[in-house]
Amino acid sequence: MTTGGQREIIAVADAADLAKAAAQRLLARMAANSGRIAICLTGGSSPKKLYELLATDPYCGKIPWDRVHWFIGDERFVPASDERNNMAMPRRTFLDRLAPADHIHPIPADAASPDDSAGRYEAELKSFYGALTLDPARPLFDLVLMGIGPDGHTASLFPGYPDVEERTRWVVGVPRANVEPFVPRVSLTLPVLASCREMLFEVSGAAKRAILTRVLSGGNLPAARARSDGETVFLVDQAALPENVGGN
Ligand code: 6PG
Repeated sequence: MTTGGQREIIAVADAADLAKAAAQRLLARMAANSGRIAICLTGGSSPKKLYELLATDPYCGKIPWDRVHWFIGDERFVPASDERNNMAMPRRTFLDRLAPADHIHPIPADAASPDDSAGRYEAELKSFYGALTLDPARPLFDLVLMGIGPDGHTASLFPGYPDVEERTRWVVGVPRANVEPFVPRVSLTLPVLASCREMLFEVSGAAKRAILTRVLSGGNLPAARARSDGETVFLVDQAALPENVGGN
């Protein structure tokens, strides 16, 4: 793998093009791996169009469903049936219909506490990976999808929270969220999210422009510190694209 650090910014016209570009990148990552594939999904509203596309052709027919495992980077600690549950949307949109049930790996919502849920998910990730420590030469995920929150959080790693500095645990319980919904969270940590061939941020809409400007200008924000050990790509539509930032 290449050494992480550099970020590539790819500008697209609008949210529809952004979803198509993300779907194409996802398919390209899958095509590059002839073995077992691991994708880490994200919550929030930004990936909704992408998830809808994955359920339709030509994308759906090109996904090797029997070889792909689906994880999620963070969860709101609410029941799986609650509409605020992050895994609920991808499940409803495409996973439950198309992916083998044992290839869907939600963060447990029925745990006793966020910490308990985090511990269980960490054990599941380690068992899937087949080792207790991450080897930079063998990334955990082929692709990790990410979003940016209004305060610069990503996954459920909020600015100023100690979890952003976590280097040992793979998954953490976050008792209090910094933004709505104010429910406890469970989140993968930065080193685990970094263990991927590609980290792909989807950033869309004028409301994201100010925070994206801060993230790209090196602000000390979780979304600025999240980097893949491989490629880190920001897919940005025109409404969210900061001035003076050229995309490809
Ligand atoms: C969550 C998320 C979070 C999200 C950003 C962007 O649980 O809220 O996973 O990190 O990706 O807040 O959210 P939007 O896509 O809704 O703007």
